[in-house]
Amino acid sequence: MREQTTLPSVLQGLRLPVIAAPMFTVSYPELVIAQCQAGIAGAFPALNARRPELLDQWLTQIKQTLSEYQSQHPDKPVGPIAVNQIIHHSNQRLEEDVEICLRHEVPIFITSLRAPMPEMIQAVHAYGGIVLHDVINLRHALKAIEAGVDGLILVAAGAGGHAGTLSPFALIKEIRAHYDGPIALAGAISTGEAVLAAQILGADLAYMGTRFIASTEAQASADYKQSILQAGASDIIYTDKISGVHGNYLRQSLERAGLDLENLNQGPKGKIEYSKEQGAKAWKDIWGAGQGVAAIHHILPTAEIVNQLEAEYRAALDAVRRFA
Ligand SMILES: Cc1cc2nc3c(=O)[nH]c(=O)nc-3n(C[C@H](O)[C@H](O)[C@H](O)COP(=O)(O)O)c2cc1C
Repeated sequence: MREQTTLPSVLQGLRLPVIAAPMFTVSYPELVIAQCQAGIAGAFPALNARRPELLDQWLTQIKQTLSEYQSQHPDKPVGPIAVNQIIHHSNQRLEEDVEICLRHEVPIFITSLRAPMPEMIQAVHAYGGIVLHDVINLRHALKAIEAGVDGLILVAAGAGGHAGTLSPFALIKEIRAHYDGPIALAGAISTGEAVLAAQILGADLAYMGTRFIASTEAQASADYKQSILQAGASDIIYTDKISGVHGNYLRQSLERAGLDLENLNQGPKGKIEYSKEQGAKAWKDIWGAGQGVAAIHHILPTAEIVNQLEAEYRAALDAVRRFA
């Protein structure tokens, strides 16, 4: 396992080596605040704010709430805020959203799809922030390293939302051969023992999305949260038909939208026009989730989820020590 002291200072001092993953239509300020107050890094996608002005307001609100909380609880670790930026020509808000996050000195930028621009990375470094980029394979990782990112998020098979297909065992070993910097591992990590396993494999941190959908603070509907509890790993369907990029979704929501699962992945590559006929919208009615659903049995406040993760993490550490 790697020493946490090798991490950028913003990632040191977390209560657990966990970054909560940003989730479109799920991670809003209430969840981010609860995650940071629980001592892990809290994240949301900039695009969850319907307009850039709202992003500005959210950041003011989150920072203020966390700063008050920290002064009332000086001994508690309060996690840093991370904002996700989608680097793609279709994201017309990118420049404005980045400018707002820079102004607020957001400590962690999480970039997805394309590698981030060097000017953006420099601007984040200017106030001591860091940029983590999420990748699903070595080719994307090498591009991000070349662009000068401060760390990689490896999105392995079974992750919620847009996910890769590679086993975490293979992915981390392959990328570690080229990169000694900070790595967060993602994909079906829903328990404290899985967080420890990620570290044993060579990651510095775990990156967890699906586990937090079934939290009281997540913006997901009651039905969405219930189907997370009911689903097993085989109820997660991997397809590019919903957004055009391969991702993992809950079977129940695909069936409710009237999609023919037997033949879903047949036909030409890419998104299908299901929404006009069925009236279902990606992410809102078609629910993203990873194979880690199998380990989720209760909807809990985020503080309790993190307590549970910590207890599981410590029990797993003890078990490893006994085994050793
Ligand atoms: C409902 C949902 C929405 C997501 N939205 C985004 C997003 O907007 N941007 C992004 O970079 N990743 C997004 N992701 C991916 C997560 O950030 C993360 O990679 C994934 O949840 C980790 O795997 P896990 O869900 O198995 O823990 C989303 C995932 C889910 C489940």
